Amino acid sequence: MRTESVAAESYQASFHTAFRPDLDRLMSDIPIPSTAAVLDVPCGNGFYTRRLAERLRAGGRLVAVDVSDECLERTRAELAGVDTPVEIIEADAYKLPFPDDTFDVVWSAQSLISLDPVRAAREMYRVVKPAGLVAILEVDEFHHVLLPWPAEVEAELQAAILAASVRKYGDGVKLSPTRRLRRVLRQCGFRSVRRDTYPAERAAPFDPPTTDFLAHHLRYLRSFAYPHLPAAVRPAFDRTTDPDSPDSLFRLPDADVVLINVVYFARGK
Ligand SMILES: C[S@@+](CC[C@H](N)C(=O)[O-])C[C@H]1O[C@@H](n2cnc3c(N)ncnc32)[C@H](O)[C@@H]1O
Repeated sequence: MRTESVAAESYQASFHTAFRPDLDRLMSDIPIPSTAAVLDVPCGNGFYTRRLAERLRAGGRLVAVDVSDECLERTRAELAGVDTPVEIIEADAYKLPFPDDTFDVVWSAQSLISLDPVRAAREMYRVVKPAGLVAILEVDEFHHVLLPWPAEVEAELQAAILAASVRKYGDGVKLSPTRRLRRVLRQCGFRSVRRDTYPAERAAPFDPPTTDFLAHHLRYLRSFAYPHLPAAVRPAFDRTTDPDSPDSLFRLPDADVVLINVVYFARGK
C-alpha cells in the first residue's frame, strides 16, 4: 500500500476512534428498517459497515464494496463477532455489480474525495430503489476541523490548503465535496435532497483518542499545507503544533476542537 494511503487510512481510523459516540449518534439518524437491503460504498475499514450491520435483523441484507483488497480485509476483521451476514465484495463504485433499484438504503461516507462525485452519485441513484434513500456523509475541508489557531495562522492556513488543493487536484473544490453535492444529487434525478450538519466537540484537556486524532490532523496539515504557508507565519504554526511548546494546541487549557460533519439525505427517483 502506498505511504499516502496508509497515512490517510490511519487518519480516518483515528477520526473514527476519537468521535465514535458522535458518529454513532449521526448513524442513528439514518432511517434503516431492520429488514432493509443496504449498500455501503465504499466501505474502507468497515467502521460504518459494522454500525449498519448492527441495525439489521433476519431478512435484512448488507453489502459492503470497495476496490481495495486491504480495505475489504479490514472490513472482514471489523465485522468479526457481528451476527448479521455481510456480503463483502470487490467492486468499482462507478460500475456496481447490482441491478437497478436493488437497495433500500445506500450509504457512502467520506469517499467523494477519492471518487468523481457525479459518476459515483449517478451509480448510487441507479441501484437505490425508487422509494429508497441515499445517505452521504461528507465534509468540507475548509470547515471540517476547527481549532483555536492564532488568527494570523488560521487565515493563512486556509489559503495554503487552497493552494495545496489546486496543486494536487487542479482546483479547490475537490476537498469540499459538500459545496456542490446538493446540485450533483439533484442533477442525478433525486427529487428531495436534505442536508443535516452534525458538530462534534472536545474540550481540553483532550482524552488520548482526541490527542491522537489531533496529532494525525496536524501531521496532515504539515505535509499538505505547510509548504504553502508564508515564511512569516511558519514559526507560529510550529509553536502551535509542537506538543512540547507552552503554546501548543495540545496543551492550551482553554482549547476546543470542533468537527463539522454533514449528511445528505437524497430520495425520490
Ligand atoms: C477515504 S476512504 C473512506 C472509506 C469509508 N467509507 C470510511 O468513511 O471510512 C475512501 C475509500 O474509497 C475506496 N475507493 C476509491 N476509489 C474507489 C472506486 N472507484 N470504487 C470503490 N471504492 C473506491 C478506497 O479504497 C477507500 O477505501
